[in-house]
Amino acid sequence: MSCTVVVCGFFGDTGKGKVISYLSLKDKITVTARAGVGPNAGHTVVYEGKEYKLRMLPSAFLYNKCRLLIGPGVLVNPEILLNEIQLTKSEDRVGVDGQCAVIEPRHVEADKKGELAKKIKTTGSGSGPCNAERALRTVKLTRDLPELERFLADVPAEVNRAIDEGKDVLIEGTQGTYLSLFHGTYPYCTSKDVTASAACSDVGVGPTKVNDVILVLKAYTTRVGAGPLQGELSWEEAEKRGWAEVATVTGRRRRAAPFNYELAKRAVMLNGATKAAITKIDILFPECKGVKAYEELSQKAKKFIANIEKEIKVPVTLIGTGPGTREIVDRRA
Ligand code: IMP
Ligand code: MG
Repeated sequence: MSCTVVVCGFFGDTGKGKVISYLSLKDKITVTARAGVGPNAGHTVVYEGKEYKLRMLPSAFLYNKCRLLIGPGVLVNPEILLNEIQLTKSEDRVGVDGQCAVIEPRHVEADKKGELAKKIKTTGSGSGPCNAERALRTVKLTRDLPELERFLADVPAEVNRAIDEGKDVLIEGTQGTYLSLFHGTYPYCTSKDVTASAACSDVGVGPTKVNDVILVLKAYTTRVGAGPLQGELSWEEAEKRGWAEVATVTGRRRRAAPFNYELAKRAVMLNGATKAAITKIDILFPECKGVKAYEELSQKAKKFIANIEKEIKVPVTLIGTGPGTREIVDRRA
């Protein structure tokens, strides 16, 4: 029975959606709460031949008994949220806190046309301008919107009750450590902190209630938008290695570089990680595609994992071997 926070240790797009959807099914998670910035996130979940690209709803939706909560720290775009609720047929289990800030069309417009779009290459989702207005205390909240009335919930109360009752609870972070407004590559970052502590604050859970922080890292590093990326490869080289990815929300090319041990180590520190998940190991080692047992990974892949563990000093308990939710090695006892 525990409260687990899932966050990314790089620049986002490391496969949190996949890891969370796996955990929700495997551990039969009955309560999950989405933290993070807002619909600038894109989480891809692939299950039973279907691909879901979620920007607002928790990735734990796959387990159909899971209550899907959105914490007050998260920005809500009502149109995107209502579409996703419809797409996932989750009307009866979604709860949105009444204190979430609302992204309005003018925020999206400002994000797309403003200086930040050019300089930082933001996602154009309206998140930055909306958070700016939130700081000015002029923004509208979800409790003011009749179209969301039936979904409104006291998310901190629900999450803490679930923890106190001994249920397994997941807190879903978004973006990545180095996109944090405080700990990231400022000014090339998002509009708030996105480390594990911030994720807890987003959903109203205090630090003494958390048992585990799972840091999700990809077998290589990617970043979309502007800002430093050590060891960046050319798009041609990334294509050659199979690391050429396209962003979920914006459709932009993701810049790619090798796994960065220094960033990973610091991310363990900044997030207080107790465990790590390494995704896309099958891209580095194609012979590992779809493998579900640790023993069946190739020697090279095992060595890569062992080396990461040695460097970051937390156990790698989950290893992604393909895009499907069940394509994973689970080394937890
Ligand atoms: P914003 O969050 O839309 O203001 O964008 C700021 C920077 O963060 C840009 O470089 C975006 O590409 C990046 N970013 C924001 N959210 C995500 C995400 O979920 N995954 C990857 N990059 C993101
Ligand atoms: Mg993403």
